[in-house]
Parts: sequence; structure tokens; C-alpha cells
Amino acid sequence: MTTEDFINTSLKKAQSEKSALFFAPGRVNLIGEHTDYTGGLVLPAAIQYGTYLLITKHSGDTFIFSSENFPEKAEIPLPESGKKQNAWFDYPLGVINELKNKGWQPEGLRFHYYGDIPTGAGLSSSASIEVVTAYAINRLYDLGISGCELALLSQRAENNFVGVQCGIMDQYAVALGQSSHALQIDCHDITHDPIPVKFKDYEWMVINSNKKRGLVDSEYNKRVQELEEARKQLNNSFDVPYLGMLQPEDADWIDKLVTGETALKRLRHVVNENRRVRLAAEFLKAGDAKQFGQMMILSHDSLAHDFEVSCKELDTLVTIAMDTPGVAGSRMTGAGFGGCTLTLIHRDAVEDLKNRVATLYEKETGLKPGFYPVTLTGEPKKY
Ligand code: GLA
Repeated sequence: MTTEDFINTSLKKAQSEKSALFFAPGRVNLIGEHTDYTGGLVLPAAIQYGTYLLITKHSGDTFIFSSENFPEKAEIPLPESGKKQNAWFDYPLGVINELKNKGWQPEGLRFHYYGDIPTGAGLSSSASIEVVTAYAINRLYDLGISGCELALLSQRAENNFVGVQCGIMDQYAVALGQSSHALQIDCHDITHDPIPVKFKDYEWMVINSNKKRGLVDSEYNKRVQELEEARKQLNNSFDVPYLGMLQPEDADWIDKLVTGETALKRLRHVVNENRRVRLAAEFLKAGDAKQFGQMMILSHDSLAHDFEVSCKELDTLVTIAMDTPGVAGSRMTGAGFGGCTLTLIHRDAVEDLKNRVATLYEKETGLKPGFYPVTLTGEPKKY
């Protein structure tokens, strides 16, 4: 099924039944990785790929879940909907529970999803399904919940119901994304500054490594914990309510107060990555693709060596990209351990990059890459 097919069939159904069709985008993070849960800065943008939800009222006292992307279906009685099911529909169930906490009175609903975003590949398929559910119920029942609160309750659903200690970046970018803009999000204040993305003659290319992301949730939660322990060590001597407040010039006293090579490397990544986001935002405003690309390269290097969330497959994709003339920068995007890279490339060099990656990546890893040219054009909407 193509996206167009899904939209057309859903719109036909929506005319004849009590249904409505909604969309929420995925996101690509341009820079600022693993900084959101430290109250730092990130620079993501919503993309044209995402999740569609056809939502229909029905007369039974159940929630019915189905998806074009997953074989499992479920019909869950309303009183049992607070229980985790260990299946893909835990994402919408988590959101439903958050909405109930806000006073929404649920009734029988059928949720049918379709996503054209690769699942679990670092483009926020999870946040996309959470936010499309929250956005649809908010619109359908006129709940008057703001975009920022939709993002926060979707994040709570993922933290408390699904069990991943993610930060706010994905849900925020998906709920508040603006076409042709990146959002510089301050994850401490939970505010953002939209920056128009206009690099003349340059395009964004997402390449899926198709490496299965093993242990991503547990490794992710481990990084969150390692940083929190490092913060506590610092906090014994100085008031450090959140790590995102630290600057590169704090490195001297950080080195003296924190014990353990791993903790120091993790902190180094966070502090330097925040600085890179600040600089990258300036290069974006100036339309300077080459300098922006430099920040991407440094970011990848830090994620690979200091934060240790890259892998052979992602490193191979970045190396091939960087050896291709016309590439300004390339880095892993999202949580890591597999998933996608993002490359900023001159439009004349796109075909060359695709050919080189298609041959060299498979030779090196035995995996076939997936190409996703992205336009930064996603926004949640009702059809
Ligand atoms: C995942 C999480 C985000 C963020 C990124 C890494 O996508 O959901 O909150 O931490 O990883 O930057």
C-alpha cells in the first residue's frame, strides 16, 4: 500500500462512517544528540514521512487497534486499557491513559494506522504514533490541549507506560514541527526558536543502515543513568540542577570532580554537543552549509567515541558520505545503535552518493541501505 492509497481509501471511509483522518510527521535531528534529557539544546525538523491515523467512533465499549504496518491487532475493553500489552499499540495506549488523566472520558474507538516512516530507525516512528493519537483525540473531542502539552503527555506515555526514559525532543518536534523550519529547542525551558532552513543548492539525504537496533532501549536508559550519576557527583560540590547548563569552559573543574573515564567521556559529549548546536544554529541562519556540515562531522565523531552510541554500520555510511565530493556533512541521527544517518549534500552530487553507498556499504556490511530524500515539510494535520 502506498501513502496515497491509504489517504484515498481512508478519505472515502471517512465520508461514509463516523471517521476522520489525521497525520503527524516523523522528525530528523539535524544536530544535538543525546542532549535533550540533560536539559540541553537540540535542532530537529519535522519531515514529510510520518503516521496516518483513521479514527472511527463505534458503539462497543472497546478500543480496537490495527495497522497496515504490523500484523498484531487488538480489541481492548475500556476498563482494561490501562494495562501494558507489550505490543506496538502500547504507544497509543500510553497516550490514551495520559489523556484520561487529563479528564478525557473515553468511548468506543477504532484506531487504524499507516506509517510511511521506517520503524525504529531513528526518525521518531514512536513519537509520530504517539502524537498522531494525542492530536486526533484532542481535535475530535475539542479538548483544547496545546501542542506543547500534547508533546509532554506523549513523552510521559513513553517514559511511564512504554518504559523508555526518552527526552522531549521527538514528541516536541513532531507536535510543533513547522514546514521548512528546524526547531532549536531548549529542553530545559521547553521552548523553541523556529529557524528557516535554506541552504542554497544543498539537500538532506537520510540513509537507513537497516541494521537491526538491538538493546537500544536498555543502552539508551543506561546512558540516561550514567549522566545522572555524573551530575550527582558534580552536584556534591556545586549546584548543577541539569547538565545542559554546563559550558566547555567548565571542563577543568568537571575533570577534577568526576571520577571514571566513562563518566567523563559522556559528559564531554553533552557539553560539546550543546556548543555545536549553538554554532550550527548560527550557520543555519547564515545559510552556510559547509560550516554546518563541519558541526555534523564533529557531532558524529563525539557520538561514536565519547558517547559510544554509533556502530560499524553507521560509521561506514558516514565514512562513505564524507569521501564523496559535494558532501558538506554527515552524521548518525536519533538514538543510534543502528538506524539512519543524515547527510547534507550538494544537489549535483546526490546520484553519485547513492551509487557509492549502494555498492560500498553492501560490500562492507552485507546490508542493503535504504534511501530517504527528506523535505522538512511535516506538520500535524486533520484531512
Ligand atoms: C531518541 C529519544 C530522544 C533523544 C534521541 C537522542 O530519539 O527519543 O529523546 O534523546 O534519542 O538524541
